[in-house]
Amino acid sequence: MRRVNAILSGLGNIGSRFVGVLHQKRDVLREKYDLDVRLVAAADARGGAIASEGLDLVELAQLKSQSQSISTIGKPSLGILDILQKIDADIFFEATPVNLQTGEPGLSAIRTALKRGMHVITPNKGPLALAYGELRTLAKENGVQLRHSGAVFGGLPTVNIGQRDLAGSTILKIEAQANLANSFILHQMGNGTSYRDAVRAAQMQGCCAPDETLDVEGWDAIIKLVILSNSVLGMNAQINDVKREGITHLTSEAVAAVKADGKILKYIASAVRLDDENYELSVGPRALPLDHLLAPLGELQMGVAYTSDLYGTISATIIEEESTPSAASLLRDMLTIYSD
Ligand SMILES: NC(=O)c1ccc[n+]([C@@H]2O[C@H](COP(=O)([O-])OP(=O)(O)OC[C@H]3O[C@@H](n4cnc5c(N)ncnc54)[C@H](OP(=O)(O)O)[C@@H]3O)[C@@H](O)[C@H]2O)c1
Repeated sequence: MRRVNAILSGLGNIGSRFVGVLHQKRDVLREKYDLDVRLVAAADARGGAIASEGLDLVELAQLKSQSQSISTIGKPSLGILDILQKIDADIFFEATPVNLQTGEPGLSAIRTALKRGMHVITPNKGPLALAYGELRTLAKENGVQLRHSGAVFGGLPTVNIGQRDLAGSTILKIEAQANLANSFILHQMGNGTSYRDAVRAAQMQGCCAPDETLDVEGWDAIIKLVILSNSVLGMNAQINDVKREGITHLTSEAVAAVKADGKILKYIASAVRLDDENYELSVGPRALPLDHLLAPLGELQMGVAYTSDLYGTISATIIEEESTPSAASLLRDMLTIYSD
């Protein structure tokens, strides 16, 4: 049995659910994968705890379900950077909130873990969007892996399909319905709802943040496309390399006119191959023909379609009604590392 010592930063929606998944799959990990995974330290915004033989996962999940801090079984003064410096672990899971200005607190923690020779798994888009090249190099220099399959469309294995399943091919095009809020809003507008009312409906549904700017202006889709392009297409793309069109200028009449024309308006992020080294990257509303693989997607579905020279066009979709699939992407990434 191989013992894997893990550290987790962030015990919110994703981190706590991941603790639950680790507990739920403990026997599967042992029996099927020969892995004895112990969470030897964890931190939230209010402190951290260390347990060399492994934290009690049930106790930890209960504590967080009551909105308590892990510091109640550890120390308020124990931050994740202290933990990463103090503990020799094999793998670091980073699940703190996205910060697109600085990437913090995730970026410093990921850098530290990689330099300390730990594999890193994160669904956090901030550090990846701001410093993917640097982090990938750090991982390589330290002989460890950086995996982030949950950062691009949660539970949908978007990155894995591109990195693994299209092996040997040249990717000609990636198209994705990448943003739930915009997808939901366009769907509502197609049924005659005004833009403002559709935004409100998306916020009430829970798929759109109270401040909708990042979604409706296209920034969220851009960030996902940049991470996807860098990790799958080997690019060194930056946010400014993506042509951006939001949905704020659309009217329900314009959306209905697309429908009347026998097409459907979807919010699409795409990378289209131009030549050996370049792809055109863009996000925006696109009128898709009804036989397009992404056309039948529901308003609360995410989906991706890859076109390559060897495998034709492959699509995958997900309905993620709650965050367990995103949290389970951390498990998937860990098993990818330890099955290598
Ligand atoms: N939710 C999803 O469906 C989803 C899907 C894909 C990707 N993601 C990404 O996953 C990450 C986590 O999302 P989430 O929904 O779990 O967020 P969340 O519910 O807001 O939880 C964030 C967690 O991070 C902790 N935290 C904040 N600052 C910290 C610090 N300096 N050190 C250690 N911990 C700190 C918080 O501590 P407290 O508990 O003390 O507040 C909380 O436990 C984000 O980057 C998000 O974009 C989320």
